[in-house]
Amino acid sequence: MRNNAIAEMRKDHKIGHTILYFDEITSTNTHAKELARKGAAHGTVLLAKRQTAGRGRLGKQFYSPAGCGLYLSVIVRQSIAPEDLLAVTACTAAAVHDALRYFDITAQIKWVNDLFLNGRKICGILTEGGFVGEELDFLVIGIGMNIRHNPNVPEALRPILTDLESETGQCIPEDQLIHAILNALESHLDGLHERAFLPVYRAQSCTLGHRVWLSEESCEALAIDYTQDAGLIVRMDDGTEKIITTGQATVMD
Ligand code: BTN
Repeated sequence: MRNNAIAEMRKDHKIGHTILYFDEITSTNTHAKELARKGAAHGTVLLAKRQTAGRGRLGKQFYSPAGCGLYLSVIVRQSIAPEDLLAVTACTAAAVHDALRYFDITAQIKWVNDLFLNGRKICGILTEGGFVGEELDFLVIGIGMNIRHNPNVPEALRPILTDLESETGQCIPEDQLIHAILNALESHLDGLHERAFLPVYRAQSCTLGHRVWLSEESCEALAIDYTQDAGLIVRMDDGTEKIITTGQATVMD
């Protein structure tokens, strides 16, 4: 990865004007939150070659070995309400989708924070808020993408994970990929209040129209649409509709 090339490409942008590089870090999200609490500016990006304690949604680990993935976090300070956190995650998923389209790659988006290629996960997103009392002071958006095949991927993860290179045969220069992701994120965050991400988020969904297992409800339902805030609207088997905003919706069919 050519650090100077990314810095040069991003220097006049709202997101990525400052990029901090780490060979190894516990978690770019954890460190970004510490920096944000100390006043780091909107658009600061942390980029790591390897994470020793990468985190995913719902307290899961995010496997982050060196040489195989892209691990980055963005500090966001714009007027966002706490109830918009889910929409920010969905908006970031749409941004990653759009960035990949730039390289002629079409990914599917699984509610709420995953991107898939050929039925397996290539990217996850973790959005975390920093609060002062009830007020949202800043956000950290973390993006983890599997770029290259990792022969050491744990056995249990093999059926569910894949990587960009194995699925597309393309070896995209990382600086270009990061530039495309940050560009798309910048533009989707500008359109967040108008929910500009929703058309692509709906169109690329691999959740809608499917039966899903809802972890919070411990039951199956049919995923029928998204709310303006990226909540998942499901039809339960008794015909009632419910909006799901937490937990996981695992596609069953
Ligand atoms: C998920 O799959 O549930 C979300 C994964 C998010 C991983 C990224 S990698 C960069 C940033 N740092 C972390 O610890 N997590 C996010």
